[in-house]
Amino acid sequence: MVPDRPNVDDPGRMIAHRGASQVAPENTLAAVRAAAAMGVYWVECDVTLLGDGTPVIHHDATLDRCTTGTGPLSALAAEDLVGVAAGKGHEPQFADEPVPTLEQLLDTLEALEFHANIEIKRHAAPLGATAACVAEALSARPWTARRIIVSSFDMGELAEMRALMPDQPLAGLWPKPPTDWRAILDDLRAAALHINYRHLSQSLLTEATSFGFDVRVYTINLPNLMVPFRAFGLTGVITDHPPLFLEDASWASWAAG
Ligand code: G3P
Ligand code: MG
Repeated sequence: MVPDRPNVDDPGRMIAHRGASQVAPENTLAAVRAAAAMGVYWVECDVTLLGDGTPVIHHDATLDRCTTGTGPLSALAAEDLVGVAAGKGHEPQFADEPVPTLEQLLDTLEALEFHANIEIKRHAAPLGATAACVAEALSARPWTARRIIVSSFDMGELAEMRALMPDQPLAGLWPKPPTDWRAILDDLRAAALHINYRHLSQSLLTEATSFGFDVRVYTINLPNLMVPFRAFGLTGVITDHPPLFLEDASWASWAAG
């Protein structure tokens, strides 16, 4: 019998990593819309805190790589992001694309009737602070209990999520799962295991699925490498470029199933 693990209402097969990050700036609302334009209805996005406690959608601890701003997010307040563009290095059409707040992302997901994997990046925040902000935002939107799965490399953040939200779907996230991954997921009542595709094996997949866990891999942009795992119960792929998969009829059919 599968223990009570809250889960999303969709397998989450094809997930656009940081949004459709090959065609739009990563972790932006434009990247979510680009995923929708590709016929995808799942995105993975990273959430982290500004110094004033505002949850924003951003991967790094600093603004430098992805935006026109500089410095650590922990030194910023929400008003400091006015005029900062997240489209650094992208086409001029993205020149004014902002760093979204979590609230703006949730508004967009709701309007598009999307699903999402929201990954907590703790960075410099105190333990549990990011989870508390995510829990507050999700609690205000009942649909998120069916359409959002929260993951993190930081098991302390996931433990806080579970303490605050008994019914929120969670995924344990590791590059390579530790030997006690199953006990950790059971303690969290997490529904899914998210791992780097390089560490996926047939035996791990068989074991995880036999215990009722969903298994998804990141960040896979080489569809052929994953073909053998479909037959062993791979649940989903997190990819920068969904069309690499969807242009192949067998992947399109798998994604629709
Ligand atoms: O959630 C999967 C993946 O996004 C984890 O790695 O560094 O791209 O956030 P990263
Ligand atoms: Mg991520």
